[in-house]
Amino acid sequence: MNIILIAAPAAGKGTESERLISEYKLAHISTGDLLRKAIKENSPLKDEIQSAISSGKLVSDEIILKLIENKILDKECANGYILDGFPRNIAQAKKYDEMLEKNNIDPGYVFVIDIDKEKAKQRIVGRRNCPKCGRIYSTIFEQTKPKVDGICDSCGVELIKRADDNESAFENRYQIYLNETAPLIDFYAKKGILYHIDGNTDKNYTHKQIKDILEK
Ligand code: AP5
Ligand code: MG
Repeated sequence: MNIILIAAPAAGKGTESERLISEYKLAHISTGDLLRKAIKENSPLKDEIQSAISSGKLVSDEIILKLIENKILDKECANGYILDGFPRNIAQAKKYDEMLEKNNIDPGYVFVIDIDKEKAKQRIVGRRNCPKCGRIYSTIFEQTKPKVDGICDSCGVELIKRADDNESAFENRYQIYLNETAPLIDFYAKKGILYHIDGNTDKNYTHKQIKDILEK
């Protein structure tokens, strides 16, 4: 079973992925996480990636497509995978279609997690991540607060704030979502594999809507 999550920043792609990978034993492919890892590990592409991410722009399709093809053919994806943050524009979606066809892979389900802009902005400001395990927390929402302020429940290390989690980068990211990513909704609706999910309330409700569709 393969899943694509399409959503504006902070709609809950990463949070919902954490639930889905543990319940359905799927691999998690987050292009954002892979890019942040490349920066941390001083990849030769570090400067290019860092400058795009911190200003909220998209990283080049060429870099992204290389990351993806390596991943989906990996044996850890044999039981299925979640794409979190890819495809991000029509060009990436077309290339992804070619990869699927070439390797005889089913596209699976596409979920669009809808969220209001103001709500997304509020979530961005409060988000914190564990630098070790990547788990996602919030300083604002009870449901996703750590047990001890600023500390990861599982690793015990200090949580960090992402470099692009500020208001100006958020405005760019949101605008790019509308201009470049939202056209994918039509692209996948035409294939008959797209479902809208309301991401405005709590994370259990987001998960319930997705689970109901997967288990129908
Ligand atoms: P990426 O890492 O993909 O960021 P994004 O799309 O902006 O999405 P976020 O990770 O910010 O939000 P999310 O939906 O995962 O929300 P989360 O679950 O954390 O991309 C970053 C950058 O990398 C891009 O700007 C670009 O430069 C580059 N990039 C990535 N992919 C690319 C590609 N394919 N092509 C080109 N460039 C690419 O939740 C948010 C917060 O809300 C958390 O704190 C959470 O605890 C809280 N929260 C509160 N209520 C809820 C609720 N009901 N559900 C979920 N979370 C909730
Ligand atoms: Mg995310």
